[in-house]
This record gives sequence, C-alpha cells and structure tokens, in this order.
Amino acid sequence: MRSQVLWLTLLLAAPVVAGCESPVQDEEISDLGPEVEGLEESEYHRYGQNCLACHGGYGPGPLFSFAGTVFSSPTSDIPVQAARITITDSAGQTVTRQSNCAGNFYIEPDVIEPTFPVRVEVECTLPDGTLRRNVMGTRINRDGGCASCHAVGGPTADSPGQVFCVPEGVDAGFEVPPDCPGGPEGRGGG
Ligand code: HEC
Ligand code: HEC
Repeated sequence: MRSQVLWLTLLLAAPVVAGCESPVQDEEISDLGPEVEGLEESEYHRYGQNCLACHGGYGPGPLFSFAGTVFSSPTSDIPVQAARITITDSAGQTVTRQSNCAGNFYIEPDVIEPTFPVRVEVECTLPDGTLRRNVMGTRINRDGGCASCHAVGGPTADSPGQVFCVPEGVDAGFEVPPDCPGGPEGRGGG
C-alpha cells in the first residue's frame, strides 16, 4: 500500500517536472551542434548562432538580455569587430556595446533588463573610415537573441538574414585579426 501511494505521487508529480522542459528548445540547442574543438565557451564562441537559445534563461549558458553577431555584408562570413550596437528600450534606457573580433556582442541582465519593445541600431566604421549606420525599422518585442530572426546568410522568406554593415556587392575590406579565437576559423556548427 505504501509503495502504491509512492507511485501515485510520482505519477502525479511527473507532468509538473516535464513542464519545465521544452522539446522545441532542446532541439534548437542540439541542432546548433557541439563546440568547435579547442575553442572555449567564451564571448568568441558560436558566432552567427542564436546566442539566446542557450543564454536566454532556458539553456546551459549564463543569462543575457541581448546577444548576436555582426557580419560584413548580408552573405559574407567575415565578422565585423568594433561595430557599435545600440539598444534603446521603451523606458528610455540606452546601452551600447561593441562587437569583438568574432563579430559577437552580448549584454548581461545586470546592465539592462529591457522594457520591450526595443529599438536597435548598428554603426560600423569601415576600414576606410566611413561610418555606416543601419537602423532596424521595426522594434524587437521580446527576444533579445538577434539570430532568432537574423539567421546566418542572406534574406529568405523566413528571415531578414544576418545582421550586416554594408550592402551586398560592396567589399568594405573588413578582415578578421589572425589571432582571433572565433570567427570563420572557429565557427561553431553553422
Ligand atoms: C549551444 C549553446 C550556446 C550557444 C548557442 C551560445 N553559448 Fe555562450 N556559452 C554556453 C555555455 C554552456 C557557456 C559556459 C557557461 C559556464 O561556463 O558556466 C557559455 C559561455 C559564454 C560566455 C562566457 C560567460 C561567462 O560568464 O563565463 C560568453 C560571453 C558567451 N558564452 C557568449 C555567447 C555569445 C555571444 C553567443 C552567440 C554568438 C553564444 N555565447 C552562444 C552555451 C552557448
Ligand atoms: C523578432 C525578430 C528580430 C529580432 C529578434 C531582431 N531583428 Fe533585426 N530585423 C528584423 C527584421 C524583420 C528586419 C528587417 C525589417 C526591419 O528593418 O524592421 C530587421 C532589420 C534589422 C537591421 C536593419 C537591416 C538593414 O537592412 O539595414 C538591423 C541593423 C538589425 N535588424 C539589427 C538587429 C540586432 C543587432 C538584433 C539583436 C539585438 C536584432 N536585429 C534582432 C527582425 C529581428
């Protein structure tokens, strides 16, 4: 009798436990593949991927409010270092971050816990000194992971394509510093 009660308790508890797991998110994370060998789990890893799949509160990484990758052009795999990403939320809070040599940036929740919707702009200084500013026309309504919408590659029916500095066909001359741990040589999974 005692063990029957125990089993009943476990059966009743099971759906509650399962409610914390999300097969869809588990699949999104496993689809991203393993870490690149020799590359640490750091700000340089997994460039171009949806950081918040793992850093959005559900996955294994520490929580970020925003994170993503800036590329040279809509279809180039060259990331841009020192692009300035400025987030302005509906409460008027503004945060600017610069991308690293892998094009990656991230903003922790102790810097901003945003009030959505949020405006985003990206400023890039080209190697010839020209400043380019790309402003997202629409606002982000809840998801701080740029690549949850901005999938790697050019625009498709499902995605505006990766975040970029210069339009297709312009060779701005961006280069990845040879000692950069991430970027095309250290790309994680896709
Ligand atoms: C597949 C899951 C996954 C993805 C995608 C991912 N990360 Fe991570 N990240 C991790 C894990 C796991 C760690 C290690 C956490 C630890 O050491 O406790 C980590 C660590 C980090 C750290 C170091 C944090 C710290 O406090 O030590 C930074 C910074 C970081 N990631 C940035 C990014 C950025 C930027 C992106 C997107 C371009 C990204 N990550 C994509 C899983 C991921
Ligand atoms: C909810 C989906 C979504 C998220 C999340 C998102 N974007 Fe966007 N973004 C779009 C769409 C759709 C467009 C194209 C239409 C527009 O400008 O609103 C766009 C356009 C842009 C543009 C302008 C591109 C151009 O053609 O000049 C920039 C820059 C940009 N996004 C940066 C970002 C950054 C940086 C992040 C992460 C902090 C981000 N976006 C997150 C959907 C998203």
